[in-house]
Amino acid sequence: MNAALELSEVRKRFGQTEIIRGVTLTIGKGERHALIGPNGAGKSTTFNLISGRFAPTSGAVKLNGRSIAGLRPFEINRMGLSRSFQITNIFHRLSVFENLRCAVLWSLGYKYSFWHRLSALRDAKERADEVLELIGMQHRRNTQAGLLTYAEQRALEIGITIAGGADVILLDEPTAGMSRSESDHAVELIRKVTVGKTLVMVEHDMSVVFGLADRISVLVYGEVIATDTPEAIRNNRRVKEAYLGTSLDEPALAGAHE
Ligand SMILES: Nc1ncnc2c1ncn2[C@@H]1O[C@H](COP(=O)(O)OP(=O)(O)OP(=O)(O)O)[C@@H](O)[C@H]1O
Ligand SMILES: [Mg+2]
Repeated sequence: MNAALELSEVRKRFGQTEIIRGVTLTIGKGERHALIGPNGAGKSTTFNLISGRFAPTSGAVKLNGRSIAGLRPFEINRMGLSRSFQITNIFHRLSVFENLRCAVLWSLGYKYSFWHRLSALRDAKERADEVLELIGMQHRRNTQAGLLTYAEQRALEIGITIAGGADVILLDEPTAGMSRSESDHAVELIRKVTVGKTLVMVEHDMSVVFGLADRISVLVYGEVIATDTPEAIRNNRRVKEAYLGTSLDEPALAGAHE
């Protein structure tokens, strides 16, 4: 498999507590991968270890075959990985367009010297409008982001995440707090903006997971207990056991549709 992301025996300790306990995971180029697991399992921490917010205590992380463990977030971003956060992360006082343009400029930054600033600004404007269209928010172009509905803010955030053109996209609970129809819409958006890219998504909503993912990894107490196709995960005994008595137990797994 041609890997976009490879984690080998990744561990993370906070003080005395080991939160990530030897995670090994390979995500192929172009794959849509869901990371699921109970609250506190370490899903967001895993994202933080991949995106460079935290350095692993030990283990290796590779992006497109290059080692990234211990690099800074902006370095990893410029190597082609972009992530969204579990909590909405936009500039509330800027317009939708300005939010997107900021994201583009930030990611373009290193390619353009001082002397090329004007062309960078032009490129950024074009790219921001392109993303605006992709996320279907042209009619909100000049609206202050803080005035958008919650679902629109999450859509904007997805736009910000992909604006720089990264080919590996990490989304942390992109449909959290949405109604059924809002999350159906978000699934379509995610599908559309990640065509040809690699997606890793943390998600609690099983219908979103089973609707989008090519493969699923289940994280429990900092360990991956299974990585497989949706069908196999649904029938996996260890996974069913891990979910018993939680909000994602058997009925949720069984009831999820593809
Ligand atoms: N910076 C930190 N310092 C200490 N402990 C942390 C830190 N970040 C996370 N943890 C702990 O690591 C564990 C895993 O947290 P994490 O946020 O990764 O879980 P999660 O799987 O994303 O959960 P949720 O589904 O609730 O978002 C939790 O017990 C959390 O308290
Ligand atoms: Mg989390």
